[in-house]
Amino acid sequence: MPDSATAVHVAGLSKTFVVPEREAGLGAAARSLFRRRTREVRAVDGVSFSIASGEVVGFLGPNGAGKTTTLKMLSGLLYPTGGEATVLGHVPSKRERPFLRQITLVMGNRNQLQWDLPALDSYELNRAIYRIPRTQFVGLRDELIELLDVGDLVRKPVRNLSLGERMKVEIVGSLLHRPRVLFLDEPTIGLDGRCKSASAPSSASTTVATTRPC
Ligand SMILES: Nc1ncnc2c1ncn2[C@@H]1O[C@H](COP(=O)(O)OP(=O)(O)OP(=O)(O)O)[C@@H](O)[C@H]1O
Ligand SMILES: [Mg+2]
Repeated sequence: MPDSATAVHVAGLSKTFVVPEREAGLGAAARSLFRRRTREVRAVDGVSFSIASGEVVGFLGPNGAGKTTTLKMLSGLLYPTGGEATVLGHVPSKRERPFLRQITLVMGNRNQLQWDLPALDSYELNRAIYRIPRTQFVGLRDELIELLDVGDLVRKPVRNLSLGERMKVEIVGSLLHRPRVLFLDEPTIGLDGRCKSASAPSSASTTVATTRPC
């Protein structure tokens, strides 16, 4: 049973996807209308671990190991098919508001900021959504901008940024509401060596970051 010093507790967590399966071609497409074949994919198979408050943890595994699926379950985007998970004492799949306010999930291959706007405008939107008091917001925003050295980049439309530049401004945006748990899925996508070490700045107290062994 997790205690209050445990930020993330996972016991026997599993996720099995049921995916339709058919051969290529028109004939197979027609046949699949009448007889649908499915296959089970065990994306996560009985994973157990605990992460204490304040820990920074790397979550390693080869392609297809189930890292992204696990993080999606821990942030309440997917229902587990087995086992249990608690994050900050909440069951993620219930997606309770106090839980969602305290976590953040950054996915290297997804955009959370508005594509056509400068990141500064999206940060304002986050401020309104999370109802962050202005002085607190401005202080942390400017601190993070300086730390990740993105002073010029946050004024350009996000679509004009390079992959690594976009990742840095995404990370700033994800920390503005001071999440207590930060889930980073492939956060170092596109970042150069200089930034990889600076990319886990944390006003968040617990950080879980995925990557692959080379
Ligand atoms: N929505 C889905 N439907 C069916 N299968 C899925 C789905 N999402 C993931 N999978 C499968 O589950 C397995 C785990 O995928 P996942 O994305 O969690 O791996 P990963 O460890 O994040 O891999 P990578 O390092 O390539 O990002 C893979 O075999 C994948 O094909
Ligand atoms: Mg992944």
